[in-house]
Amino acid sequence: MEVIIQPDAVAACKLVARQIEKLVKQKPHAVLGLATGSTPLPLYAELVRLHREEGLDFSGVRTFNLDEYVGLPSGHPASYRAFMQENLFRHVRFAASHIPDGLAEDIPAECEAYETEIRKAGGIDLQILGIGSDGHIGFNEPASSLASRTRIKTLTPRTRADNARFFGTPEEVPHHVITMGIGTILEAGQVVMLAFGEGKAAAVAGAVEGPLSAMNPASALQLHPRGVVFLDEPAAARLTRSDYYRWVFDNKPDWQK
Ligand code: F6R
Repeated sequence: MEVIIQPDAVAACKLVARQIEKLVKQKPHAVLGLATGSTPLPLYAELVRLHREEGLDFSGVRTFNLDEYVGLPSGHPASYRAFMQENLFRHVRFAASHIPDGLAEDIPAECEAYETEIRKAGGIDLQILGIGSDGHIGFNEPASSLASRTRIKTLTPRTRADNARFFGTPEEVPHHVITMGIGTILEAGQVVMLAFGEGKAAAVAGAVEGPLSAMNPASALQLHPRGVVFLDEPAAARLTRSDYYRWVFDNKPDWQK
């Protein structure tokens, strides 16, 4: 796994945005996998800037979000559909944007249909991930199957507490979500995980340098041939080999950039 440590989240997200730009220019009908939460906000701001100021065209690009809460009323400000609308979709036109339907009457059928849509789109070219303080990716909480597919999951009390800041009261955080599985995520052509802040340092260290384990779902990235982790300094603080990762990044041959 490649580990890229940057001074701050904005610097890291600018690099990721350039990677997305490269992909979209090479493949105008690319398929992007997107995440929500605080972590990708500087990335979406930079994509909006690239679109507005540099004319980067996303009109052929299709997107698939990782997850959505189950049972939130349509238009609820903490829903991931509302989040994406606010932070990206109202600024940038995509060919199609898919988010699991957390209000579907038949949730297993919705999950199956989501997997089918991803397959029909030709698979995800580049998947953006955040990481939970417990190591979750998407909402694959610890002990999730490393082979899992899109399905309903129950959030842990820790994740509900972490996400309470998006809701009026902690009790309002739903218990259930629909999330792409770890197996679904690992099928993306490239996987880019972002982690910022000291609250992520332990989970990041476990994911990058710990054993492959369902107890740290992000460690599944160790199985991906094109997994890259972008960190700020506090999120990198508990890595034991950070000098090595920095050296590798600073000395990349031109053909690898
Ligand atoms: C959100 C998602 C989650 C978040 C994670 C970190 O779509 O899939 O895995 O990436 O919970 O959330 P933040 O970025 O808010 O710390």
